[in-house]
Amino acid sequence: MRSYSIAAIPADGIGTEVIGAGLTVLEALQERAGEFRLEVEHFPWGSGYYRKTGRMMDPDGLERLKRFDAIFFGAVGDPEIPDDVTLWGLRLAICQGFDQYANVRPVRLLPGIKGPLRDARPEDVDFIIVRENSEGEYSGNGGRTHRGLPEEVATETSIFTRAGVTRIMRFAFELAMTRPRKRLTVVTKSNAQKHGMVFWDEIAAEVARDFPGVAMDKILVDAMTTRMVLKPSSLDVVVATNLHADILSDLGAAIAGSLGIAPTANIDPQRRFPSMFEPIHGSAFDIVGKGIANPIATFWTAVMMLEHLGEGAAAARLMRAIEQVTAAGAPLTPDLGGRGTTREVTDAVCNAIRASNA
Ligand code: IPM
Ligand code: MG
Repeated sequence: MRSYSIAAIPADGIGTEVIGAGLTVLEALQERAGEFRLEVEHFPWGSGYYRKTGRMMDPDGLERLKRFDAIFFGAVGDPEIPDDVTLWGLRLAICQGFDQYANVRPVRLLPGIKGPLRDARPEDVDFIIVRENSEGEYSGNGGRTHRGLPEEVATETSIFTRAGVTRIMRFAFELAMTRPRKRLTVVTKSNAQKHGMVFWDEIAAEVARDFPGVAMDKILVDAMTTRMVLKPSSLDVVVATNLHADILSDLGAAIAGSLGIAPTANIDPQRRFPSMFEPIHGSAFDIVGKGIANPIATFWTAVMMLEHLGEGAAAARLMRAIEQVTAAGAPLTPDLGGRGTTREVTDAVCNAIRASNA
């Protein structure tokens, strides 16, 4: 039997609830498929760990994670600890330490989900945002001078490297090649940001020459917000910088009905390191312990993890089970207008898996 080692890091807030639900569904899937095993090891890292040890993860954390086939991640963030401490101490440490430079965020209106766009049908909202995940505005490059004085200054420098931009463009073009429509929209802001963003555009045009089969267009990030709302059907694959894609992907999740269903994969396409799979929604402390966190983002994330591991059939089975539950209209959690609990949605997806055909 094929076997994969998975590092589960539920971390903070509803992270524990949704990763627990995700593992339950994955267990049902393994039983149903009978073809592969996931060997899951749990790591207690996160803000609770920080309170006890002063560290978000152990100093040898990356070394220990390295041998896993994938990382299944919950959420980081705690109301009492500064966000930059929790984020850089764990999630970004993994993303950057393992050079997971491609962040993939599918946006799809699942059957039965009522999104906020009045006229949108499921087939109108079906695109993938590729987020540059290793540099750009999240490079951590900058500093503070004259702290506490009236002349205090802070800089936050965006870094764009030829290697970094080229590899994310290639990834996006290659992804576009696998899609029926073969379209790529490059998001930019080169009208105002005349160094990094002009460079970004130039490299997009260079890489495009290697992909004559892909129809590429370019759009400014501000105009992109309106296009996503007014003409989502014109989008197929979208590539954007770290910050632009961060913002646009929240809008994407809203268009798809809820932040509670949006999945993401932090991928090292060269497979030198494990890739990391997580829901986009974050730790959501306002609903912790209420049992109403939407587990669908984590289930969809598990679909992406299975695809990455090469278990395409199991991935498709899980996605069908999710869609069967959304299409039925219940149970769904309150963020989707339902009255269901995390547990009920999880049970419904497990039942759909058990009832699914070979
Ligand atoms: C995301 C999140 C994070 C990000 C936050 C938690 C810093 O919003 O994954 O989109 O901006 O990268
Ligand atoms: Mg975000």
